[in-house]
Amino acid sequence: MGWDYAPAPEARNIVKIQPRYGLFIDGQFVEPKSGRYFQTLNPANEAVLAEVAYAEAEDIDRTVQSARRAYNEVWSKLPGKERAKYLFRIARIVQERSREFAVLESLDGGKPIRESRDVDIPLVSAHFFYYAGWADKLEYAFPGRTPRPLGVAGQIIPWNFPLLMLAWKVAPALACGNTVVIKPAETTPLTALLMCEVFQQAELPPGVVNIVTGDGQTGATLVQHPDLDKIAFTGSTEVGKKIQRAVAGTRKRLTLELGGKAANVIFEDADIDQAIEGIINGIYFNQGHVCCAGSRLLVQESIYPIVLRKLQRRIQLLRVGDPLDKNTDVGAINSLPQLRKIESLVQIGVQEGAELYQCDCPLPEKGYWYRPTILDKVSMAHTVAREEIFGPVLAVMTFRTPDEAVAIANNTRYGLSAGVWTSKGSRYLEFARRLQAGVVWCNTYNKFDPASPFGGYKESGFGREGGLHALSAYVAF
Ligand code: NAI
Ligand code: MG
Repeated sequence: MGWDYAPAPEARNIVKIQPRYGLFIDGQFVEPKSGRYFQTLNPANEAVLAEVAYAEAEDIDRTVQSARRAYNEVWSKLPGKERAKYLFRIARIVQERSREFAVLESLDGGKPIRESRDVDIPLVSAHFFYYAGWADKLEYAFPGRTPRPLGVAGQIIPWNFPLLMLAWKVAPALACGNTVVIKPAETTPLTALLMCEVFQQAELPPGVVNIVTGDGQTGATLVQHPDLDKIAFTGSTEVGKKIQRAVAGTRKRLTLELGGKAANVIFEDADIDQAIEGIINGIYFNQGHVCCAGSRLLVQESIYPIVLRKLQRRIQLLRVGDPLDKNTDVGAINSLPQLRKIESLVQIGVQEGAELYQCDCPLPEKGYWYRPTILDKVSMAHTVAREEIFGPVLAVMTFRTPDEAVAIANNTRYGLSAGVWTSKGSRYLEFARRLQAGVVWCNTYNKFDPASPFGGYKESGFGREGGLHALSAYVAF
């Protein structure tokens, strides 16, 4: 009580948002043949930011043709070191324009500027730098073999890390000599569209990267285009399954990065205060719109009372509000449907017997907001222990022995990530080995690096992004 932070908003006039955006085809913005446009909002105040082209079959066909032409005539013929030059240029321009990108990412998607500025955009340029480095060294990535590009890739990305997901997909594809058609999510297309200016500034040959905007129907039409060699998708497990069915029996290669229900496991020998910060970061980071979010907290029974008390106290200190304010911890929920989904799952959790604790901070009147939430006394039978909520909601469970912790952690249809908090090295190594999860963080959470691979087990998808591994998703031998 007593004092509060003064507002510290980031200036938004660094970005110039056009009233209307076309499709980015063959190096230029063009009007959609469909003649249709849709709006993208700022979820923090529901204001319309811009109108964006809605691509239908004819537009997609034109776009794929542009990518195919660029592949045949230019990109597949360039030596790796020439491709690298473009990727290095893109990385440097993103770095130079990083503040502009960070502000736009926060405006269009609702994430706190602190995250878009310190996490998303630096990682975007880091990925372009990293894959620029591989472009002329592919024979060392695959010793004794001769990698060649696949051709044209169709890529579909979600709204939780809009520009970062573009970088994860575009940078390795281009490094390996492929060209792409990429579709950003309908609620967050603006940073991808700003990126087109970067491609132009970098003088990337026209058609190497093309951007189509639209919704799930646009994505489905893209997936079905016969002239694609590869589909890469990040998003819901439900849509991932549809895409897998659509691609079955075609020549298209497929990688899927889908949902998660990660366990964050805290043992009695952990440094509790450090773990609390990691648990908070693991679930409230980016409003919990994170496929690898630590959404299930597994606490060893002996320390459960103290951990719960500290978590309850800690969520009261989270600052929810204006994404452009540098003091904001938790921003806006990305869209109204996502807010409704979170609300309904929490309601089900309470009906099934979970105990609800929420941050009682004030919320802005307009926009889509959800209070940082703890659901305590959750058991494996509860819906909230199994379903991906994709919001700032932590489900708390307890365990007695390490074996029990492993059993609960693995008892999920997903397997993307997990966390473990312990001061014993032997314990976390053993735990990481026994866990069915693509990433296991030890005494930390949500750490990303372009050099380390990322991807899932079971219904979290297949294929790896990041690192050397992402290259193998874009080459044939
Ligand atoms: P979604 O899977 O529908 O959307 C992701 C992308 O796929 C968007 O670009 C969308 O336009 C596109 N898409 C939708 N239907 C398609 C189809 N039939 N064919 C091709 N592309 C299609 O995800 P949504 O509805 O936005 O979110 C629903 C839930 O999915 C979330 O609550 C969350 O649980 C999960 N999700 C997981 C993500 C992850 O990173 N793994 C990212 C976003 C959502
Ligand atoms: Mg938006």
